[in-house]
Amino acid sequence: MKTTVLGISGSPIKNSNTDRAVREVLKHTGLETEFIKLSELRMEPCRACLGCVKTNQCVVQDDARPLADKFRAASAFVLGGYTPYSSLDARTKTFMERMYCLRHQAGLNRGKIGASVITTACPPETPGLPPAAQTATSQIASWMMEEGMVNLGTMVVLGNVPCIKCGHGDDCSMSGIKMLYGPEATVASVSIHKFENDAALLNTARDLGQAIRRAVVEGTKM
Ligand SMILES: Cc1cc2nc3c(=O)[nH]c(=O)nc-3n(C[C@H](O)[C@H](O)[C@H](O)COP(=O)(O)O)c2cc1C
Repeated sequence: MKTTVLGISGSPIKNSNTDRAVREVLKHTGLETEFIKLSELRMEPCRACLGCVKTNQCVVQDDARPLADKFRAASAFVLGGYTPYSSLDARTKTFMERMYCLRHQAGLNRGKIGASVITTACPPETPGLPPAAQTATSQIASWMMEEGMVNLGTMVVLGNVPCIKCGHGDDCSMSGIKMLYGPEATVASVSIHKFENDAALLNTARDLGQAIRRAVVEGTKM
């Protein structure tokens, strides 16, 4: 029985918080894993052509076709996204749409075990700021519910507003630093967030990884 856990990151940033958090969850599964960075693939959104209805295979000839085969064969997955303009990023959303081909009649996504990571620059649950983490969490949870998957939970990671790194974060009139952290905030006072510095998040990643392992091992016994 194959017990591969796929880690899929929608973040295009090299070795981003999203990537590292997904990898941390994978590590704690103790199972065979594979990490996929969607920005390295060529993949367009679903065309809604219904060409996949009879075959459960997408007719669009891009990298989402072999990815759907991998997703189908995997025992579980960890899906990581981030939140440009306060909703799930386009690559992660495209990935979700393209797994639609596995749905028809056979219900090939049904029972798939999964967990997610959402990285947001918007500090979660802050009055006056958009609910970016909640929106993206709910987008993935809705996809999993609609496909009949088993959702083991979401880990929300506080990432970095791009203005921290652009070189103009303290003088740009459009800087997100003051919008997110208040009028006195500066690049230096906010500083770079690394998810590994948050002990509670490391525990959450461990717990999610172990939950995936238990679900996969129990599932393979049945
Ligand atoms: C075009 C663009 C728009 C963004 N808008 C938001 C936003 O509205 N809310 C938010 O929380 N983060 C926003 N972000 C920041 C990303 O969520 C951030 O880069 C995230 O923390 C992932 O980076 P990391 O994995 O390297 O930390 C935006 C990023 C980009 C590139």
